[in-house]
Amino acid sequence: MVHSRIAGTGSYLPHKVITNADLEKLVDTSDEWIASRTGIRERRMAATGETTGDLAFEAAQRALAAAGVQAGELDLIVLGTTTPDLIFPATACLLQHRLGANGCAAFDVNAACSGFMYALAVADQFIRSGSVRKALVVGAETLTRMLDYGDRSTCVLFGDGAGAVVLEASDQPGIITTRLHADGGYKHLLYNPVGVSAGFQLDQPNAGVRVMMTGNEVFKVAVKTLDRMVGETLEAAGMHESDIDWLIPHQANLRIIEATARRLKLPMERVIVTVDRHGNTSSGSVPLALDEAVRSGKVQRGQTLLLEAFGGGFTWASALLRY
Ligand code: UT7
Repeated sequence: MVHSRIAGTGSYLPHKVITNADLEKLVDTSDEWIASRTGIRERRMAATGETTGDLAFEAAQRALAAAGVQAGELDLIVLGTTTPDLIFPATACLLQHRLGANGCAAFDVNAACSGFMYALAVADQFIRSGSVRKALVVGAETLTRMLDYGDRSTCVLFGDGAGAVVLEASDQPGIITTRLHADGGYKHLLYNPVGVSAGFQLDQPNAGVRVMMTGNEVFKVAVKTLDRMVGETLEAAGMHESDIDWLIPHQANLRIIEATARRLKLPMERVIVTVDRHGNTSSGSVPLALDEAVRSGKVQRGQTLLLEAFGGGFTWASALLRY
C-alpha cells in the first residue's frame, strides 16, 4: 500500500513586524485586550508589492531544500489561499513557473483558514491513489491586504506568512488519516463581502475587500467543532489521546488552542504555539507552526502529530500523521 510522508518543511514570514502597540495608534484597542483575548503580541505584514506568491515561493524553496527534492521532480502543487495574487491564473501556477516545475498539475484550494489542511488531504489522496509520487503543498496568505484598519474587531487578529511541505510516496505512513468538513450555513459569521460574480459593490455599506466576522459566535462554534473533530480523527485511526506527541493547531486564538489541548488531555508543552508572534495567518498558520517545530528540534522523526484547522465557510479539517 502506498502512503504519503512529509519529506521536508519550509516557511517564510515577511520582515515587517506590527506590534500591538502599533495597532494602539490606529484603533481604540490595547496590548492588554489583544494579548488576554487572543494571545497575539505581534504579526507580520507583507511589504508593498510583496504578494502571496512571493511568500509561497520562499517557503516552497525551503521545503524543497529540506526534502532534498528538485522542483523538476514534482508531480503536483496544491496551494491553499484566500488571498491569491490574481483571480487567475492560480497562485499555484505562478509558483510552479517560478520554481521551474512547469508541466506538473498545479491548482489552488480555497477553504479559508483550513486551506492548507484541505490542500494536504488532496495531495495525500493523489499519492495514495498512485498517480503522484512527489507533491508540494503550500499554505500562503497576505491577509493584511484585506483588513480594514479602522475595524478593531478584525485588524488586530490577522497577519501574513506562508508554509510548505513536500509529500513523498512511501511504503510506511506518513499521513495516517485526514478529515475534511464544511458547513456553508455559517457563511454569515465569517466572510468577505465582495467577489467577481457577486460584484465588487463599492457603493454599498461595508463595501470593499474586508474580513467580516462575528468573532464571539465563531469562537463558540470553533471550540465545539474542533472538540468533535479531534475525537473523530482519533477514532478513525483507532488511536487514543495518549498516542499524540504534538498538537499543531490552527493559530487563531490561544484560548481556542488551549480548549483543544484540554480535550486531548495534552499539556501546553506538547502544543506548538506561534499565534503570539504570527497572529492568524489563515492557510499559512499550520505549516508555519509545523516548520517552526521541526526546525527548532521539538518535532522529531517517528513522532505522531495531530494537525487541525477551522475557518470561514465554515470549514474544518485535521490530519493525523507520523512525522
Ligand atoms: O481563523 C478563522 C476563525 N476565526 C476565529 O477562530 C476567531 C474566533 N474568535 C475570537 O478569537 C474571539 O471571539 C475574538 C478575539 C475575535 C474576540 O474576543 P471575544 O472575547 O469573543 O470578544 P467579543 O467579540 O465578545 O467582544 C468583547 C468586547 C466588545 O465590547 P463590549 O460590547 O463588551 O463593550 C468589543 O467591542 O471587546 C470589544 N473589542 C475590543 N476591545 C479592544 C473587540 N475588539 C476589540 C479590540 N480592542 N481589538
